Amino acid sequence: MLYNKHMDKMEKIVALAKRRGFVYPTSEIYGGLSNSYDYGPVGAELLRNIRNIWWKEFINSREDMVGLDTQIILPQTWVASGHVGNFSDPFVEDLKTHKRYRADHLIEKYLVSGSKLIEDMNMKEINNFIKENKIKSPDGNDLSEVKSFNLLFETEIGAVTGEKSKVYLRGETAQGIFTNFKQVIDSTRVKLPFGIGNIGRSFRNEITTGQFIFRTLEFEQAEIEYFFDPENSDWEKLMTNWKESMFKFVTKTLGIKEENLRWRRHTDKERSHYSKDTYDLDYKFPFGWKELWGIAYRTDYDLKQHMLSSGKSLEYIDSTSGRKFIPHVIEPAVGVNRLFLMTLVDSYTEEKDRLFLKLDPRIAPYKVAVFPLLGNKEELIKKARGIYENLKPNYMASWDDRGNIGKRYAAQDEIGTPYCITVDFDTLKDNTVTVRDRDTAKQERVSIDKIEEFLQNKLQ
Ligand code: GAP
Repeated sequence: MLYNKHMDKMEKIVALAKRRGFVYPTSEIYGGLSNSYDYGPVGAELLRNIRNIWWKEFINSREDMVGLDTQIILPQTWVASGHVGNFSDPFVEDLKTHKRYRADHLIEKYLVSGSKLIEDMNMKEINNFIKENKIKSPDGNDLSEVKSFNLLFETEIGAVTGEKSKVYLRGETAQGIFTNFKQVIDSTRVKLPFGIGNIGRSFRNEITTGQFIFRTLEFEQAEIEYFFDPENSDWEKLMTNWKESMFKFVTKTLGIKEENLRWRRHTDKERSHYSKDTYDLDYKFPFGWKELWGIAYRTDYDLKQHMLSSGKSLEYIDSTSGRKFIPHVIEPAVGVNRLFLMTLVDSYTEEKDRLFLKLDPRIAPYKVAVFPLLGNKEELIKKARGIYENLKPNYMASWDDRGNIGKRYAAQDEIGTPYCITVDFDTLKDNTVTVRDRDTAKQERVSIDKIEEFLQNKLQ
């Protein structure tokens, strides 16, 4: 379905995501919840494919990496890591409606781009800037003083009635890696340099709304802590190698266009409390260049903090020299949902009267769709079902016998299915089917006994 030309690209993508079952607003029947989305049937497949391909490339294919799967609710960790004290955003309140806004985002909207680096402003400077420039809320009302807003979700566990203890939902998956560092060393044969990967939900109390799945309260992170000996490894070289691996994953594995990517180094004032050097790999989203994937040199900050807080040694002993030290880390950290949004944006293609998602076949929710030309002709349905059932165990295959063939092609194009197979009356005579290519819309005849070979060659 092509859209009204007045809709912008993001509006079209949000509409398509809902219409075709990629992304739905959470609890829509109850009016939804800000910054919260659910993933529909095809969205769940795309998300899973991205997650699995990340895991395969960064964990399974590398000798120097292992994976973990750690908990969301953690005791003490967040005080030790510095998140309770430092993990906050500046916010202002609309004095009339009492709605809250990220102060830096309001300034960002107000500024002509590039005229001042908001990233470098501290709370006082942000406050002064809002006052001096008489910046109002989006509803045109006066704003409160700038305050600090901690992003961690706080809750309580109570194993014994009355004895409640404060815990936090994790704000990053990274801390599960640091707190398990010693156990991984003791239970596996890893040797420095090596990395640990972790994928899972993280939670942040984000107040900026309206950025679809770019910024949500719950999201999935895929993080790596790459540990090394600071005396025998060059951190700048490791950082360069990891930046290359990240870039390769985005461009070669996910098939994203290079012109839509750029590196941005964080300024000294902007860097997180734990980092000595940070770069963002930015993607050109329809709402501007935004962080897709971060890479930070976290030094030995976290292991040291956890040693201090737990009183347990998290040192590494070099098996050759016997030297004891705390390893340093390089951390590539990405949100799976941001990778997901990027693949939708980058693959979205309008061509003449067609709209399709040019997704890399490896991540496309369905690899192939099978149709009988007509949904009411028994011989065609029987033959097509045979092909579909034969493919289904090995390929993510979709079946459709509703409506006309043009509508079925359009539906598969919009969810990025690379190939559609149609069984027609010629099939009954010569055992060949029509295979249609999503990107060119060209059709070719393929013998039924060669379909698997055809798909194997095309989808690898
Ligand atoms: N451990 C480091 C860390 O968490 P971060 O830059 O805050 O660093 C890493 O987050 C990545 O997680 C980001 O590059 C982004 O892809 C993703 N991310 C962060 N906050 C998010 C949110 N509210 N919604 C969706 N993705 C988010």
